[in-house]
Amino acid sequence: MDVIHTVAELRARLAHEPGNALVPTMGNLHEGHIRLVESIRPQSACTVVSIFVNRLQFGPREDFDKYPRTFASDCAKLAAAGCDVVFAPDEAEIYPEPQTYTVEPPEIANILDGAVRPGHFRGVATVVLKLFNMVAPRAAIFGKKDYQQCIVLNNMARQLALPIRIILAETVRAPDGLALSSRNGYLSAPERAEAPQLHATLLRVATEVHAGKRDYRRIELSAMAHLAERGWQPDYVAIRRRTDLMPPLEGDAELVVLGAAKLGATRLIDNLELAAPA
Ligand code: PAJ
Repeated sequence: MDVIHTVAELRARLAHEPGNALVPTMGNLHEGHIRLVESIRPQSACTVVSIFVNRLQFGPREDFDKYPRTFASDCAKLAAAGCDVVFAPDEAEIYPEPQTYTVEPPEIANILDGAVRPGHFRGVATVVLKLFNMVAPRAAIFGKKDYQQCIVLNNMARQLALPIRIILAETVRAPDGLALSSRNGYLSAPERAEAPQLHATLLRVATEVHAGKRDYRRIELSAMAHLAERGWQPDYVAIRRRTDLMPPLEGDAELVVLGAAKLGATRLIDNLELAAPA
């Protein structure tokens, strides 16, 4: 496995590779990230994993400085998973000058997580497009754990005709249902014990929708009230259609329920795909 820090070295290393696949990450890798590597590896001649904590997607009061950086153990996990190239640029390599040209995603970037984190998806889309241009992959894989990110990036690739196959992978969970996330490391022991309730709450929403209940607003509000009673500060629980994350219209059958809530100082997100009953 080659560990590369500059774009020039990366381009030289990849120049003769017939088909690269890219797994963009911010490091502090867990089983969710490793599963992405393992599932794309058989489909690509050369698997590239990028590790870059992207300042552009963090708000001024967010956790950019304290975001966990665990480069040595990340590399050990990636070598064991069969990664071919780790691309770990520093900030000056990705942003040698102020990034004044950015990707401005449409309305989908301003709802749900985008409403709580203004500019977040602009930062994500901009760095991912830049990483695509550096690696020139044939395929890239993203986890549905970050559902809105998946839709933003998938739509960007389609609308801008990027020659890259976007693959979306299922969320990897702990045995108690908690979606794996680098931010889970911020939780205290009692918070970690409570954290699976976010998934449990979304499962209850799924049960109600599958049972044919159609008053989605009431289901969302009661799910948020349930979390609040348990000490969470919910940002949203929202039943949306999968394609554009807008409220479902009559007849929309491909739905997803998304939730975001703070537990103490830690903000967790999760989602579940649902099918509306016929
Ligand atoms: P990061 O949070 O490190 O996640 C990297 C990739 O791993 C993303 O595609 C994310 O959805 C996926 N992932 C994280 N937890 C997962 C889980 N439990 N199951 C499945 N996949 C999971 O997402 C980012 O970084 C950044 O926004 C990035 C796309 C790298 C741009 O900076």
